[in-house]
Amino acid sequence: MMSSMTTMWSSMISNVIFMAFITISIMKVMSCLDNGLCLTPPMGWLSWERFGCNVKCHIKPDDCISEKLFKDMADRLVSDGYREVGYNRINIDDCWMSRSRTKDKKLLPDPKRFPNGIRHLADYMHSRGLKLGIYQNYGLKTCMGYPGLIGYQKVDAQTFADWQIDMIKIDACFTPVHTLDKGYEDFGDVLNQTGRPMVYSCSWPYYQLHTSTVIPNWNLIADKCNIWRTYHDIHANWKDLLATIDFVGDNQQVLNRNVGPGRWNDPDMLLIGNKGLTVDQSMVQMGIWSVIAAPLFMSNDLRHITQEFKNILLNKEVIAINQDPMGEPGFRVFHNETLDIWVRPLMPSHPQHDSGIGDTSYALAFVNRRQDGQITVGVKLEELGLKTSRSYRMRYVFAKRDLSVMTGADTVRVSIPATGIRLLTAILD
Ligand code: GLA
Repeated sequence: MMSSMTTMWSSMISNVIFMAFITISIMKVMSCLDNGLCLTPPMGWLSWERFGCNVKCHIKPDDCISEKLFKDMADRLVSDGYREVGYNRINIDDCWMSRSRTKDKKLLPDPKRFPNGIRHLADYMHSRGLKLGIYQNYGLKTCMGYPGLIGYQKVDAQTFADWQIDMIKIDACFTPVHTLDKGYEDFGDVLNQTGRPMVYSCSWPYYQLHTSTVIPNWNLIADKCNIWRTYHDIHANWKDLLATIDFVGDNQQVLNRNVGPGRWNDPDMLLIGNKGLTVDQSMVQMGIWSVIAAPLFMSNDLRHITQEFKNILLNKEVIAINQDPMGEPGFRVFHNETLDIWVRPLMPSHPQHDSGIGDTSYALAFVNRRQDGQITVGVKLEELGLKTSRSYRMRYVFAKRDLSVMTGADTVRVSIPATGIRLLTAILD
């Protein structure tokens, strides 16, 4: 079984790889960014997927959107080793506001849930080596009905700057899609005019791609935003996770074109540690988010998370793939109903030949999409595009185990559990 699968996949794989390399190298368009932030994908914690819009603190005091929740998570980032490996942001999502603005039109956090205000929370983060992000919606209201941005761009940007905010997520519920290009572009300029560097997280292309026929202006989006949402809200189950991964793979020619230091696709939050994803499935999310250079924002309850999930989130080797300074996103080089193979170029890289292709290190991800059992795959490294004249030091990332030194002509064989991943690095020797 293994050898026939191996042969069939090997020849298909070589064709696909060749096409992917050529197309991506021709189409890559880079221009410079303006705020100098997020030279590697941002990492941290975000409230939405796990805590949503729970504002009923009298019923669930530990789980409602409140100063206490964000402080609790910040404390965990610090005490449980997350900050040390790079998770240094706490981001507030929707439902933090009062239902109306102040007399002078400013946003106001809900006074019961945020008794000391947002500036206090920012100070709390900053004194712990963390950063604070916040949410607003380019619309008349936020998705959950709180006061929106339209008509108040200047006052809100200044308020966020005065509060010492470090990152702004701008959503676009209830807004005509044809107004988004100008709306997001202008608000980016307004943010810059405050003089405070704030990471700009945009949901802009999501609404264009999934709620209209408008084709996103990717060059503009990448010039204006540090990260941008590309797909639906993610939930903690295998179906959603796979759908999100498939969207990235199916659209990689377009999505990867503008990615690099300071500008990243955002396929939404990490679900790891929540009910709904197994340990193997959680490794798939962590591995693929790292291979595609996605922001790593956990949305989970760090006060109640078991060690096996913590180990995935704290694995320095997988984080190093995500944070690779070259900032080249990976691409899917093989895909069928059973198996995906992804390849991401990594440092160290030694381009020597005319093409530059091949003399770089790589991450390799093999994902078993099936729910009904393990599969075994064998493929020559050169068929995945690994064609150096040197050799590669191969290592399993999650198992933290060295394999052997291999050349391009050698075959890597992996057994992958159902809905699981084998993630390897191939580092130039
Ligand atoms: C949208 C976004 C989510 C979250 C909610 C908040 O659905 O995509 O990420 O911000 O709004 O209401």
